[in-house]
Amino acid sequence: METWDAIRARRNVRQYTDQPISRDDLEKILDAGRRAPSAGNWQPWNFVVVSDRDQLVELAKVWQAAGHVARSAATIAIVAKEPEDARRRDLLEYDLGQATANIMLEAADLGIGSGHSAVSDQEQARRVLDMPDGYLCMYLIALGYPVDRPLRPLVRPDRRPLDEVVHWDRW
Ligand SMILES: Cc1cc2nc3c(=O)[nH]c(=O)nc-3n(C[C@H](O)[C@H](O)[C@H](O)COP(=O)(O)O)c2cc1C
Repeated sequence: METWDAIRARRNVRQYTDQPISRDDLEKILDAGRRAPSAGNWQPWNFVVVSDRDQLVELAKVWQAAGHVARSAATIAIVAKEPEDARRRDLLEYDLGQATANIMLEAADLGIGSGHSAVSDQEQARRVLDMPDGYLCMYLIALGYPVDRPLRPLVRPDRRPLDEVVHWDRW
């Protein structure tokens, strides 16, 4: 897929077929995340890839809107060192957002659906992922082939119109 097509085709996919994701494709998706830019190139991310069904079911309990994780072919848990202060926290959120976008766009490029999830219950995440002390599971990205229809560029995305969002030269 062209980048422009992948950008337009990505959408949150929360129902997945039984088709597994190949190791090659998973590695491409993870490499896309690794290549994201970050403040001072600090690369705060770690990716824990879960594909065992029992573990996915347990991982889905970390947040009330994480049900799709249990049904995914694989889920990437984005784990980072607990930030030292508010400034680092802001940078962390920004940079993890960039890694997430890379991951989701590469997945879309491969025809693989993806769905975000926030994380609330850190103790549950720690139990499932076996994270070291001082690390947090910040977000989950569930992956799998879409049940409803293949990823294709959306003609009418659910977005504010471009001319409402964009200001040229001045607000
Ligand atoms: C920071 C962040 C957290 C999100 N958390 C969840 C979540 O916990 N569960 C979920 O189903 N979707 C979650 N989403 C997905 C958004 O609801 C979704 O991206 C938005 O509604 C736009 O839909 P689209 O991605 O299909 O274009 C999250 C998205 C972001 C950016």
